[in-house]
Amino acid sequence: MANIKNVLIMGGGLMGKNIAFVVSSVKEHRVTIYDINQVDVEGGIRTSTKELVEKGVVSEEELAERLSRIRFTQDIESDEVKNADLVVEAVFEDMDLKRETFAKLEARCRKDCIFCTNSSVMSPSEISRDLKWRNRFVGTHFWNPGHLIPLVEVVRTDATDDATANTVMEFMTKIGKKPALCNKDVPGFIANRLQHALWREAISIVERGIADAATVDMAIKNSFGLRLPQLAPLENSDMVGTGLTFNIHDYVLAHIEDSHEPSPLLKQMLDEGKMGFKSGEGFYQWDEEKIAKCNADLNSYLIRMLYNK
Ligand SMILES: NC(=O)c1ccc[n+]([C@@H]2O[C@H](COP(=O)([O-])OP(=O)(O)OC[C@H]3O[C@@H](n4cnc5c(N)ncnc54)[C@H](O)[C@@H]3O)[C@@H](O)[C@H]2O)c1
Repeated sequence: MANIKNVLIMGGGLMGKNIAFVVSSVKEHRVTIYDINQVDVEGGIRTSTKELVEKGVVSEEELAERLSRIRFTQDIESDEVKNADLVVEAVFEDMDLKRETFAKLEARCRKDCIFCTNSSVMSPSEISRDLKWRNRFVGTHFWNPGHLIPLVEVVRTDATDDATANTVMEFMTKIGKKPALCNKDVPGFIANRLQHALWREAISIVERGIADAATVDMAIKNSFGLRLPQLAPLENSDMVGTGLTFNIHDYVLAHIEDSHEPSPLLKQMLDEGKMGFKSGEGFYQWDEEKIAKCNADLNSYLIRMLYNK
């Protein structure tokens, strides 16, 4: 693998800071966050990693050492930009802004610098459309919270070369992530296609009055959701037998939601101002206390699952 030492993160928002924290886990890495706006990198990383420190996953000394490997710049002409070995772009989700950002980078970075975009939905082929050296460009979709969720989808474009894909896969492993190579640049990559196939059916069950939202979520949490981290669908299919899987699909697939549009129920909720956490009502009722508990419970759960703490 190409020797990746200097890592540049474009955009120091929610994802950029957490990605910087993850990259800083390797002692020889030097991480720079570039942002057009002033960013409190240390404050942001300290806030998002508070529970990791409290639960003893990361010591205060280690956090301080990792923070010392992360610099911040607002200077696009700086040596940190010119000398980057690998860039992860995490600016706003805007196609023109992402294209402009990579055009600026291509004019300044070395020709062998690897370019990654953290876009969660936009096609890396489209983002890299106007670049000269498209072979060194790849999607790297970190999941939120970026410092906890292990998966990073490494998405090949129509032009990504093998060396780039292999280097990025190895880099992600080195920083402690579980990289999944997505061989085709398709909307939703791998995991969001899977996730939203389930959400579509969950919403459809509520819409059709088969069960209410709380019952749908409870059914998932207390059945296959419980065993998913241990037994994923394709392993499960082999366990029960592909013949049984075939027979079940032969019977049930005709009845499962296959709409290619967002659910009318979602549209109705939006029209009624039911926007979830944002408005205090969605499928459930939310207030500040419930929202804080939901976020804290998720972080605690992930840390327990990942670090046994
Ligand atoms: N938030 C999520 O759950 C999530 C998950 C996975 C992927 N992503 C993707 O990561 C990217 C960043 O998302 P986020 O949630 O961190 O956004 P964010 O709004 O928290 O941060 C974006 C940052 O980009 C900076 N920025 C804007 N224009 C810039 C420019 N020209 N040059 C440099 N920096 C610039 C902003 O100042 C801001 O700090 C998006 O592409 C998003 O789709 C987000």
